[in-house]
Amino acid sequence: MNILVTGGAGFIGSHTVVALANAGFNPIIVDDFSNSEPTVLAGLKNILGYEVPCHIFDCNNYPGMLQILRDEKISGVIHFAAFKAVGESMQEPLAYYRNNLGSLLTLLDAMLAEGISNFIFSSSCTVYGEPDTSPVTEKAPVKPATSVYGQTKQMGEEILRNVAAAKPLKIVALRYFNPIGAHPSALIGELPRGVPSNLVPFVTQAAAGLRDALTIFGDDYPTSDGTCVRDYIHVMDLAEAHVAALRHSIKIVESNFFDTFNLGSGKGNTVLELVRTFEKISGHPLPYHIGARRKGDVIAVWADVQKSYDLLGWHTKRSLEEALEDAWRWQQRLGDR
Ligand code: UD1
Repeated sequence: MNILVTGGAGFIGSHTVVALANAGFNPIIVDDFSNSEPTVLAGLKNILGYEVPCHIFDCNNYPGMLQILRDEKISGVIHFAAFKAVGESMQEPLAYYRNNLGSLLTLLDAMLAEGISNFIFSSSCTVYGEPDTSPVTEKAPVKPATSVYGQTKQMGEEILRNVAAAKPLKIVALRYFNPIGAHPSALIGELPRGVPSNLVPFVTQAAAGLRDALTIFGDDYPTSDGTCVRDYIHVMDLAEAHVAALRHSIKIVESNFFDTFNLGSGKGNTVLELVRTFEKISGHPLPYHIGARRKGDVIAVWADVQKSYDLLGWHTKRSLEEALEDAWRWQQRLGDR
């Protein structure tokens, strides 16, 4: 089956391309390279042994999208293409609404015109805000978003729920917790632009001497060591969950289907635990200091993954150590770029 992967040159998208190909699907990438690099395609070729077709393209272009769905005989779409920087989303709300929601509407229109029903959407645990308890299940209330980025994910889910109720679509929304790591070959991985705002790319860059000390944002939270708790998931585990979600969607016989799934490890780790684990696997102390809390950070969130296990038959296979080893190998391969 030919599967369109929008944002397929991005961090999670590129790893999902590998997982799809490993599972016998034919991934076809659409990416405008606005937040990714064409070098990813060479990495994919090295891993897979063939060139993955790639259309350099903005998903907001309806006639173009229709043409690709038709020409490539697409049977399902995994939609990653979106802006994802929380801070930037507050500065450029229109760009975020236009890109994240506009491309979603365009794709859905084109899929309906072509009679394609299988759709996998990248959502986020950010929809839970500060949950009342963790592990958090998919039944937990969706809390008002504190960023425009978060809002585009919540609104995306709502749009999909409403469209699936009215139109012949089978939609799976995947709520990612904190994806980290890289392909074990170190041929693909995360390529943050500028100073990373996410924890693990900052840690690996600081360890490589490219950044000054890590600032840990607050150590006075009500957690075991005072730092925030997150559910870190290896990007290859996350990628494999997309294959499981796609298979689930293909198996569903009802034509108006929408459901949400948590994708996490099911375990919570504090920032300090992650730092200590990184120091252990890299063999070096990591320079860090404690700073002020970061505005908008939730205290603790980790996933209840029972539903994903029961219905998708998926669970994580890789440990935090493996994820950090792979992230570190990738950083060492990148050198000082
Ligand atoms: C958040 C969102 C996630 C979204 C992502 C996009 C939540 C729970 N998660 O992830 O859905 O996809 O942003 O970027 O809302 N930290 C430091 N120092 C640093 C960087 C981070 O201490 O330099 C800490 C943070 O305070 C946090 C943890 O590390 O406790 C993870 O931070 P980060 O990697 O940015 O991810 P989230 O903020 O959890």
